[in-house]
Amino acid sequence: MLMASDDTQTRRDFIVLTASAVAGVGTVAATWPLIDSLNPSADVLAMATVEVDISSIEPGQAITVKWRGKPVFIRRRTEKEIIMARDVNLADLPDPQTDEERIHKGHEEWLVVIGICTHLGCVPQGQRTGSARGEYGGWFCPCHGSHYDTAGRIRKGPAPKNLLIPEYSFLDNSVIRIG
Ligand code: FES
Repeated sequence: MLMASDDTQTRRDFIVLTASAVAGVGTVAATWPLIDSLNPSADVLAMATVEVDISSIEPGQAITVKWRGKPVFIRRRTEKEIIMARDVNLADLPDPQTDEERIHKGHEEWLVVIGICTHLGCVPQGQRTGSARGEYGGWFCPCHGSHYDTAGRIRKGPAPKNLLIPEYSFLDNSVIRIG
């Protein structure tokens, strides 16, 4: 009897201990992602801002940089592209915004936008010289046919909004900081 009692006791202890251990592990596992998510990793911190040398971009050319996991289009516009962006009737725009609202004063030739179509998130074409830029000379999204103009505004197609403008500043005439 004594053996049986000890055995029962031992098994119960084992069950209790096992349950505690599982609960303990469960608590750690449930808590870690929360704590971890409160501490941005070094690479995330490093990507919070990006400095880009734009001195070698010629008028009419564009480059794409990655910022916080997103493509950012930086285009140096030609005189003609600036005129096209300004020669519009705001009432005709699905998402009315002037060109002046979308660029930095004194740096009119530079357009900086997030390169993600505001319809369903495809990356529009038009960055490389000679690639499709759509009917308004900006970018063309081949997924469902959205056309953006030389200010990155939606002009035709299903996209509801203009290409978003990230926060950025000019450190001098040849370097911009995004973020
Ligand atoms: Fe660009 Fe649909 S995702 S038009």
